[in-house]
Amino acid sequence: MENITKGLKRREFLKGTAKIATATIVLGLGSSKLLGAIGDKQKAIAIPTVQLNNNVTMPILGFGTNTLKGSIGVRSVFEAISVGYRLIDTAHIYGNEEAVGEGIKQSGIDRKELFITSKLWVDDMGYKSTINAFETSIKKLGVEYLDLYLIHRPRGDVKSSWLAMEELFAAGKIRAIGVSNFEPEQLDELKTYAKIEPTINQIETHVFFQEKISYPFLKNSRTQIEAWSPFAAGRNGIFSNQTLAAIGKKHQKSIAQVCLRWHFQRGVVAIPRSSQKAHMIENLNIFDFELDEADMNTIASLDLNKTQFPEWG
Ligand SMILES: NC(=O)c1ccc[n+]([C@@H]2O[C@H](COP(=O)([O-])OP(=O)(O)OC[C@H]3O[C@@H](n4cnc5c(N)ncnc54)[C@H](OP(=O)(O)O)[C@@H]3O)[C@@H](O)[C@H]2O)c1
Repeated sequence: MENITKGLKRREFLKGTAKIATATIVLGLGSSKLLGAIGDKQKAIAIPTVQLNNNVTMPILGFGTNTLKGSIGVRSVFEAISVGYRLIDTAHIYGNEEAVGEGIKQSGIDRKELFITSKLWVDDMGYKSTINAFETSIKKLGVEYLDLYLIHRPRGDVKSSWLAMEELFAAGKIRAIGVSNFEPEQLDELKTYAKIEPTINQIETHVFFQEKISYPFLKNSRTQIEAWSPFAAGRNGIFSNQTLAAIGKKHQKSIAQVCLRWHFQRGVVAIPRSSQKAHMIENLNIFDFELDEADMNTIASLDLNKTQFPEWG
């Protein structure tokens, strides 16, 4: 574990939070203890929430952790919480649930302030293996419950896994259950036997893949869209795209901020990942400007209507 995070206790964490001056978020889950620690003079960034179909609220902007493993994972999660993120997205397959849990623990933040997501990997599909995989995930994360648990991909025995997740939900071990990478017809099939509707479908969407089919389908359903790789993980030259740069210049914002604002204005939950504190802060500062209709139309024209991750098909 790196020295940077080693031994940091709640007091140091809060001091650090106050210095950052980006402040904290307002969750629908109750007032944040950090708000008081930051002080009245600091401007608080309020991260809006979405209300899921079971009335649980979730921040519309969170922190992705894929590839952030080991000491980098610990430090990144610690810093993300310190600058104001409360939604943390991980998955069994990322191999970082322990690091994410350690970052959370070192932050000293009250568990109730966080919205923690993990995902069931394809190797664990089926009733019993889903229960076991869930128990392993929460143990690694060092938490008693998850806010959101997703079927990572529509593979194998989805029906039995969903049943297990419904039971975990009923037992109070998960506050919301959902899916990831489900096509509309796969969601429709799940709904034929599900007693609980999926709250979330976490899908690949960004300016280069605007999901012409899934986006309107989900918008017209009771399942909230969550964007994975909201920056296309940097692919296709997104961070040097001249069209996005011009829109950013107009609003005095970066390309990353234009992308995240675009997701926000589409009503999509986004979970950008960063290992750099400056980027984490930048990515939170998207609630003080608005893309106009011309900007939205210009961004619509960037759609390539295809995945940027063909190797994951
Ligand atoms: N459900 C699924 O199947 C699935 C699949 C993929 C991902 N996910 C989730 O979605 C999350 C996000 O997706 P992702 O990790 O693939 O990639 P992403 O968030 O689209 O992009 C991450 C990249 O953007 C860079 N970046 C971040 N902020 C920046 C800024 N302000 N300026 C310039 N560069 C910036 C990061 O570099 P720095 O570190 O240098 O900032 C990193 O290289 C994942 O971490 C994971 O939690 C889910």
